[in-house]
Amino acid sequence: MLRRLISRETIARLFLHQGSQWPAKHLIEYLQAMAQSIKRLTSQVPGFDTILGGGLLAGSSYILQGRPGAGKTILANQIAFAQARQGGKVLYITLLAESHDRLFQSLSTLRFYEANRVGKDLTYLSLFRTLRTEGLTALVDLLRKELARQGSTMLILDGLLNARESGQSNLDVKAFVSELQGHAAFSGCTVLFLTSARIDDSSPEHTMVDGVLQLDEELFGSRTVRRMRVTKSRGSKALGGLHHYQICDSGIVVYPRLEAHLHHPSNTDHAPTNRVPSGIDDLDGRIGGGLPEFSATAVVGPGGSGKTSFGLNFLRLATPEQPALHFGFYETPARLASKAHALDIDIDELVTAGALSLLWNPLTENVIDGLAYQLLEAVETRRVSRLVIDGLAGFERAAVDSHRVIEFLAALTNQLRTLNVTTLCTWETRGLSAPALNASSPEVLSLFDNVIGMQLDEVDGMIFHGMKVVKIRDSAFAPTVTKLIIPNSTTGVILSDPGKHEPDNAGHAPRS
Ligand SMILES: Nc1ncnc2c1ncn2[C@@H]1O[C@H](COP(=O)(O)OP(=O)(O)OP(=O)(O)O)[C@@H](O)[C@H]1O
Ligand SMILES: [Mg+2]
Repeated sequence: MLRRLISRETIARLFLHQGSQWPAKHLIEYLQAMAQSIKRLTSQVPGFDTILGGGLLAGSSYILQGRPGAGKTILANQIAFAQARQGGKVLYITLLAESHDRLFQSLSTLRFYEANRVGKDLTYLSLFRTLRTEGLTALVDLLRKELARQGSTMLILDGLLNARESGQSNLDVKAFVSELQGHAAFSGCTVLFLTSARIDDSSPEHTMVDGVLQLDEELFGSRTVRRMRVTKSRGSKALGGLHHYQICDSGIVVYPRLEAHLHHPSNTDHAPTNRVPSGIDDLDGRIGGGLPEFSATAVVGPGGSGKTSFGLNFLRLATPEQPALHFGFYETPARLASKAHALDIDIDELVTAGALSLLWNPLTENVIDGLAYQLLEAVETRRVSRLVIDGLAGFERAAVDSHRVIEFLAALTNQLRTLNVTTLCTWETRGLSAPALNASSPEVLSLFDNVIGMQLDEVDGMIFHGMKVVKIRDSAFAPTVTKLIIPNSTTGVILSDPGKHEPDNAGHAPRS
């Protein structure tokens, strides 16, 4: 589309300016303006327009390809109904043997489907027989007439492979695609060709269309993972790589790969100098008054070392004006409340006052990017000031591709810093001593402004809870291991004198 528009308009302009010198600067500005003036469609498929660099280009043609069951028909219909809701007219052609009743039956399980629009804003025609008996040329003639008669703004052809098989040679299919494309572009109609065949990159269809989307469904261990890739997109800066998508009752939801979408944070970063109380007064005294505002802190340690308890103390200071969010993978909200109760923190009261929200995603089947978008949206819409992510491992477990976890966490923490939220992330390590972790995962820890190690020390057969400040952004701190005491019914956690190793006389060990 872009190429067509640019070549036509540019040649005309250059022709008019023959004789005079066309300044290169003006030409570039003109081409940029042309690119910006191209209309993009709003698909209303969450995340879909983002991976396409802004959406499908009106009047362009696309191939949606993927194995049977990948979700091509659902995606195309979801886009079609969105067009209809926005005043568009859609012509949906099936070149498959399957009946439309079956199609409507399966679409009716999805929320975007509106039966009353079928036959009005969306026309479904089965041209399987026409194609079989009369061939591609007759099909093109019929389509041209229908498009003109209905004033269609979108044409969807489900079953491009069938069209391909009826062609005597590749040339026929090329002519078929070209005819439809030309006609559609002239009338500003967007064309989607759906195919379950894996058409290779050098095929005529690929060469001719403006964009190609590949929908993949793969097995990772015993889990099914759906991912989408824009393999070609003329005139658009599409997001590269594989993007997770899910099919649910609302239809398709695409999760643009976080590190590609937010490779630079979408807001401006601040360099604040204020301190935020951590909820542990003695700790604040040792780190210059509290955690640096809008920073990200990793609280690292083995199971049972007090990470969740630290988080709960941090949340205790939330107010309705400066609310907090607990984003956890382990305890259900009820179990978290009972854990907090043992620390004399009333979670229900904080929730009722509007000072705290709880988001719990069990460690079952999660989409890593889906978790991140859920978290970022909650932080943004609720204007969260204090955030606890209980269990970075929750993201790690959700990642099917473990190579991207560092980049993913970098994008996530960078974005959080720009959302004016002070974040505390817990991360469970093996072994009793937290500092051992530093050596094994230096890259992860370097993503955080502050690192606090929680540890369990064994002395004479007794377990001690210890806390060690490993780093605090731009600050000096006391580097000693401090003994952590959790009193039974007073508020908060207190720290004993640095270096002292006394048994936990409260007898109430915090659990993480
Ligand atoms: N309500 C629903 N909730 C969740 N998943 C659904 C729902 N309805 C359908 N699906 C999933 O969508 C898949 C079918 O998608 P769709 O019909 O769009 O695939 P397709 O790529 O067009 O396949 P084909 O090439 O066979 O036409 C089903 O296999 C199922 O996994
Ligand atoms: Mg289909």
